[in-house]
Amino acid sequence: MSKLWGGRFSKETHKLVEEYCGSIHFDWILAEYDCIGSLKHIDVLKKARLLNASEHAKLAGGLKRILSSIHEGTFKPGPDFEDIHSYIQHLLEKDPKVGKTALKLHTCRSRNDQVLFDTKLFCLIHLLKTERALTSVIESLSSLATKYSTLIMPGYTHLQHAMPVAVKDVLGAYITMLERDEARLLNAYNGIELTLGSGALAGTMISAKHYKLPAKDGLTKPVNPPDNTLATVSDRDFIVEILSVLSIIGMHLSRLCEDMILWSSTEFNFIDIDDAFCTGSSLMPQKKNPDVLELMRGYTGRLYGNLLNVLVLLKGLPLSYNRDLQHDKEPLFDSFAVVQESLTVLAELLLNIKFKPENLSGQLTDESLYATDLADYLVENGVAFKDAHTIIGKLIKSKLKTQTPILSMTDQQLASIHPLLNPQIVKKIIDPKHSVSSKRSARRTEA
Ligand code: ARG
Repeated sequence: MSKLWGGRFSKETHKLVEEYCGSIHFDWILAEYDCIGSLKHIDVLKKARLLNASEHAKLAGGLKRILSSIHEGTFKPGPDFEDIHSYIQHLLEKDPKVGKTALKLHTCRSRNDQVLFDTKLFCLIHLLKTERALTSVIESLSSLATKYSTLIMPGYTHLQHAMPVAVKDVLGAYITMLERDEARLLNAYNGIELTLGSGALAGTMISAKHYKLPAKDGLTKPVNPPDNTLATVSDRDFIVEILSVLSIIGMHLSRLCEDMILWSSTEFNFIDIDDAFCTGSSLMPQKKNPDVLELMRGYTGRLYGNLLNVLVLLKGLPLSYNRDLQHDKEPLFDSFAVVQESLTVLAELLLNIKFKPENLSGQLTDESLYATDLADYLVENGVAFKDAHTIIGKLIKSKLKTQTPILSMTDQQLASIHPLLNPQIVKKIIDPKHSVSSKRSARRTEA
């Protein structure tokens, strides 16, 4: 195995150690970003006169050939290399058009800085990718909300009937959560600064001014020299932030999944999830199960685990780079993959959800859903709210005790609870449309 180090060693590395320390089986994902970083690094070396124009051209040519093979899908990471950085160095050394010039690539550079650059660039690209996937889910929720814009369903607190709510507002609640997540993703994106020049920990002999590079050729942001080289090579805060945002997204998805799992149950029977998005049972022929939603809900545990994994990894690490940091990548890659995959399937699943209006309206006949509206009516007519609460509480108690629906109560029965109550009034108030349209406090209802 060709290594980036070895001169001071008098023995071959033990096979077990090579396997134990190697990271190429997961960090090959960084290959593209490593080539882009190396292209930037050779620009710096040229500006610093550590590479002449022909050496620069040879290295750039070799790196671009590797980049093309990555883009074409023919790039195969060699399993016998310690990491992707060593492997790309090896490819350049093997490239006859680059030859000995390859030995100059690593001038004034450490993998400690290199891996950080690669990981940050990976994060920038994947934050935008995740944001696009999140937008598709928001679009699916919006189109579902538009399709069912007039539909009303029972709203819940404590999973008990609370008040009628518009389906579009329930879906809108999830849109709001995901819009907050979108802002969090962009915030994480804006917080990442691409730097080169930290070296192993102490910086390099190249002047900071040469490390200023524009945002082009594969870079979504400009490169700058680090403010503090030790802080920079030790920094994995951006990973913790991203894993937190991805965990919050997972938490929101799990709540949406849970609602839809409940709504699709025989007991609720509010929605139908398309057959193409459900699975069956090997034993029970009748079953149609919401496995996609359950797996999505379950993935949240893995996302939280990945966040906690990295938080614990970083705790108590001394300055500056420590090999422990290699363990940051698998949880990071995993969380991005899990969230992107979940968002992609969810966007499609949502487009195929069908609400069952007859079952929703069946639930809306529960008169208890309108108790607050009845109390509000008394308040509007001069009764203090606390008294109104007690009066309507008594009305509900009498309904439960006599087994008489409020809508069937006589003038006398209602008047005995409170003189302001009568059959016409309760009929007007015990109505889903009336209930929903009487709620005017949300900003979106301002006209
Ligand atoms: N695979 C390593 C990582 O992910 C690259 C940096 C190695 N640096 C070192 N000093 N051994 O962190």
